[in-house]
Amino acid sequence: MRTTHRGVPVYRPNVYRTDAIIDPYPHYTRMREMGEVVWLPRQRVYALPRFAECKAVLRDDEGFISGQGVALNPIINWMSRGTTLNSDGAEHDRRRKLVAHRMLPRALRAIGESVDAQAAAVVDAALAKGAIDGVADLAMALPMAVVPDLVGWPRDQRDHLLPWGGATFDVLGPVNVQSLRALPGALRMLRFARRVVRERAMLEGSLGHDVLLAADEGKLSHDECSPLMVDYIAPSLDTTISAISHALYLFGTHPEQWQRLRDDPTLLSNAVNEVVRYESPLRAFSRKALRDSQIGSTSIPAGARVLVVYASANRDEREWDDPGTFDIGRDATRHLGFGQGAHACAGQGLARLETTAILRALVERVEHIEVTGPPTWAINNIIRRHERLPLRLVG
Ligand code: HEM
Repeated sequence: MRTTHRGVPVYRPNVYRTDAIIDPYPHYTRMREMGEVVWLPRQRVYALPRFAECKAVLRDDEGFISGQGVALNPIINWMSRGTTLNSDGAEHDRRRKLVAHRMLPRALRAIGESVDAQAAAVVDAALAKGAIDGVADLAMALPMAVVPDLVGWPRDQRDHLLPWGGATFDVLGPVNVQSLRALPGALRMLRFARRVVRERAMLEGSLGHDVLLAADEGKLSHDECSPLMVDYIAPSLDTTISAISHALYLFGTHPEQWQRLRDDPTLLSNAVNEVVRYESPLRAFSRKALRDSQIGSTSIPAGARVLVVYASANRDEREWDDPGTFDIGRDATRHLGFGQGAHACAGQGLARLETTAILRALVERVEHIEVTGPPTWAINNIIRRHERLPLRLVG
C-alpha cells in the first residue's frame, strides 16, 4: 500500500465516515502530525490540517479559487454557480457588495436591541420550563426568530428551512450516502428560492428584497437573485445553532469558565471566539489550485483540489498553547472558524450578535448550566452540531 502520493503522506481513514464526523479530533491530530499537507485517497484531495497552510491558502484567493466550487462533489460544484461563496475576483466582489453591507456593524446596531430582547425572552422561557433541550429551546429559537425576517423569507414558508439549510451544507461534502440523502432537500431549497424570486414574495425591506430591487435596476441579472438568497439563508441557521449549542455544552461542562464569564462579562466576545475556535461549526471547504503551486514545501499540481480544514487548524498545537483546553481567557481572535481573506464569513457580525445575546441573557440569569445527559449529533458532512442537548438551567 502506498504511503505517499506525489511525495505527500497518505492519510487512509475516511474522515467523512459517521464515527469520524462525531469524533474528528483524533483524526485531525494524526493528520497534523503527518505533515503540512496530507493526501486523502477516498476524496482525492490534498488536505491542509495545520493553521499556517490553511490561512495562507485562504488568503491566496487568486491561486486557490472558489469559482469552481468549494465542495468535494463535482456535480454540486457545477450546480452551485452563481453564489458569492462560489465566485472569484471582480464577480465575487460585486456579489458580496450587493448584500454584505447589511451585515456590517452599523447595520446590525439597528437590530441589536431587538435581538437582545428576543434572546432574553428565549432564555426566560427556557428557565421557566426546567428540563430543556438546549438545541431546540435555546440554540434554534433565536436564529429562527431573527434570520429569516432579515433575509426576507416568506413568513408562511419556514417549516422546512432548517432541514433544507442543513442539506445544503451536507451536499458540499464528498459523494457519499450522507450527501446523496441530502440532495433532495438542497434542491428543494433552491427551487423554492427561485419561486420566491419569481413571485417577488420576499419581505419588503429585507436583504432578499434589496437583491430583487438591484436586479430591477440592472445591477445583476434576475437569475442571480435566488442563489444570492440561498447564499445568505442557508449558512445562517445551522452554523449559529452549532455555535450556541456548543457554547451551552462547553460552559455546562466547564463550570469554572462559566463562573469566570459571570464574574467578568467583558470576556463575552472572546468567549464566542473561543467557542468557535474549540468547536468550529464548519469543518472544511475546498479550493481548486489554478496553477502548479507550493504550499509550504509541498508541490501542488494545477487543477488539484485542496481541503482547508478550519476545525483542525483551530486545534493546531503549532499555533495554540494547549489547544485542547477550552479557555475563554486566551486570545482566540485569530481563529479560522469564520474563514479568512476574501471569502471570510459575510455573516459573522450577525452570528456574533446572536451568540453574544444568548450568552449575555444567560449570564444575567443563570448560575449553572447543567448538562443532564449526553448530547446526540446531527450527522452532516460539513456542519458539526448537536441534534439534542439535554440541559437544566439553574437560576
Ligand atoms: C457561527 C456561525 C458561522 C460560522 C462558523 C460561519 C463560517 C463561515 C466560513 C468558515 C466561511 C468561509 C467560507 C470559505 O472559506 O469559502 C463563511 C462564509 C460565508 N458565510 Fe458564514 N458562518 C457563520 C454564520 C453565518 C451567517 C449568520 C450568515 C448570513 C446571515 C453567513 C453567511 C456567509 C456567507 C454569505 C459566506 C460567503 C462569503 C464569501 O464567499 O464572500 N454565515 N462562513
